[in-house]
This record gives sequence, structure tokens and C-alpha cells, in this order.
Amino acid sequence: MQRRALVLPKGAALTGCSKGKREFSTSLRGQGDLNSMMEKKRILSGMRPTGRLHLGNLHGALENWIQLQQQYDCFFFVADWHALTTDYASPGDIHDNIWEMILDWLSAGLDPEQCTLFIQSEVKEHAELYLLLGMITPLPWLERNPTYKEQQQQIEQKDLGNYGFLGYPVLQAADIIMYKANGVPVGKDQLPHVELTREIARRFNFLYEREVFPVPDALLTEVPVLPGTDGRKMSKSYGNCLYITEPEEVIREKILKMMTDPARVRRHDPGTPELSPVFAYHKIYSSPEEVAEVAEGCRTAAIGCIDCKKILIKNVLARLQPIREKRLELEQNMTKVVQVLRDETDKARSVAVQTMAEVRDTIGLNVFR
Ligand code: TRP
Repeated sequence: MQRRALVLPKGAALTGCSKGKREFSTSLRGQGDLNSMMEKKRILSGMRPTGRLHLGNLHGALENWIQLQQQYDCFFFVADWHALTTDYASPGDIHDNIWEMILDWLSAGLDPEQCTLFIQSEVKEHAELYLLLGMITPLPWLERNPTYKEQQQQIEQKDLGNYGFLGYPVLQAADIIMYKANGVPVGKDQLPHVELTREIARRFNFLYEREVFPVPDALLTEVPVLPGTDGRKMSKSYGNCLYITEPEEVIREKILKMMTDPARVRRHDPGTPELSPVFAYHKIYSSPEEVAEVAEGCRTAAIGCIDCKKILIKNVLARLQPIREKRLELEQNMTKVVQVLRDETDKARSVAVQTMAEVRDTIGLNVFR
């Protein structure tokens, strides 16, 4: 399988895309005119509902989505069926996790006026396309999928020996090509799935001799990697996360307890900022002057780790405050939130219904027409 992904720098624009030759331009000049002249490219991405989002989710994917929604025709969705491939979540859990995640999306700035937000399991057409794509997907493509092999080796506490888990990328392909997406913003870990999607789309078009599905590109965005409070990868299972809508006191306390450069045992020991996760956070949350100041202060032992963390706490709280306020406001208006999501899901479904009519027609399944 040929691997092809385009790196999309933050703020970049997708322009002039024709016959498989795509260009990404980092220049935003004149983009407004261009967009009004050409139809906007369609972008689609999804997240499995894991509940409240942490700062890694915010800076890794969500901020990127929020930026993209201004330039592209974006579809973002909750991949709740995908969550069931690895977890037999209790019914209450998955339900709560879906709404927690949606509230965080909206609080952070995903705007239903600018993009289409929907819930996968409420657009049943995904299941039908998944079934049909399953008929044309060779088994070896799924068996050699690196994420399948890796997760089977790495994850022991879950039962991954089920049919749905093997078919995970087929469902993902259905999600993507249902909306004829041109670009799929994802992290590196998802590249094999986008590659499989491309293969499946090509195979469908080839077998049925009709260009029904565009072949989508992965959009790899360079995002800062935010370590967890203990310096390892931020992950719920490690219990080292900072959540985006956590109360101020909790954030303050977690940052104060955060790991620092182990070489700084005493206040006057000089340190290496790059060895401290606190510094990785400064690079995201603090002004360039403050970043320079704490780096220099750490190297020369002019400031202690607590001083350094206090500056960080101030900046993190300032950045998260509007998100927390928005979340409180939304929680007071759940009926409205549910209605918005229902309307948004209806919008997505109307696109899916059209695609499925075309697919059934192509295959010869519109029996009663
Ligand atoms: N597999 C993705 C993840 O775990 C979630 C996902 C499901 C997705 N369907 C998708 C992402 C379609 C992009 C496009 O992150």
C-alpha cells in the first residue's frame, strides 16, 4: 500500500485540487476570494467518545478542527459505534461520554453555525455502507492493518478478538466516503485507516465502474505533544491528565504537583527546561518573553520550580476560563444542546441519504424503483 499524507501546517489553506494533484498553500492572502469562487473542500473527522476531553485532546485535535471550520465545509462526529468495538461500555457510560464530549467540543469553540456536528449511531446509513464495503474489502487488508496487530499485542485487558474490531477501518471508511470528504484531519496513529479508506474507495469505483467516491487525503497537522503531569504521554489510563473544564483549584493543584527536571533536587540546583513537562506547557500557554524568562531562570537556578509553575498556572487558567464559562452556560441549557445536535445530525443524514441512493443505484439494489 502506498502511503500518502499531506502535512497541513496550522492555518494553512487547501487550494486548487484537481485530478489527484493537490496543493496546500500556507498563504492566506486572497483566500477569501478563492473560497467564494470555488466550492469549499469538504473535511471530515471523528472522535471516539471517551468522556471529558483533556488538554492533549484540545491541542492535538480540537484546536485544529476549530481552525479548519472557518475555511472548509467541515463534518465532525462522535464515533460511538467505534467505541463499542473495543469496550462493552455499560449503557449509562457511553451515553454520558457522548454528551460530555459534545459539551467540551462546543465549549472549546466548535460552532454548529460553521460546521456540521453529528452522532454516528444516529445516522444508520453508516451501517449500511459499512456492510456493503465489507463485501468488497479483502480480508488480508484488514489482517495486515498495523493498528489491528499492534492493539492486539498491546491491549490485554480488553477482548479484541471480535469481528467488529477487525472491521473497524471498514466502518471508518464508510464514515469518510459517505460524505465524499476530500480531507481527513487525523493524528499519525490513524494514517493506516485513511490509507485503507483510499484503497476501499478506489476499489469500489473500479469494481462498479463509476467514480462514486473521491479518494480522500489524510491531513496531518503538526501539533504540539503535551505530556501528562508525570511526563509520560497524557492518557486517561495513566491518570495523568488535565481536563479542559476542570475546576481552577484542581488545575492549580495538579500543576503544582507536576513532575519537573529530576536534576533540580534543591532550589539552587540548575536545571534543563527541556527535561521538564512544565516547560512543554509553557511553550503553549506562555508568552515568548515568559518562555525565555523561565528557561533562563531554570538553567541558572534564578527561579525555582514553584515560581515557574505559578506563571504557568496563571496562563493556563486564563486560557481555559472562557471554555469553562461556556461549558457552565451550556450545562444550564441542555435541552437546547440536544436540539442543536438533533438538527445537526439531520443535516448530516440528508447527505448520507443521497450518497446511499447513489450507492444502491450503482450496485443495482434499488429493487422497487
Ligand atoms: N478511529 C478514529 C480515532 O480513534 C475515530 C474515527 C472514526 C475517525 N471514524 C473516523 C476519524 C473517520 C476520522 C474519520 O481517532
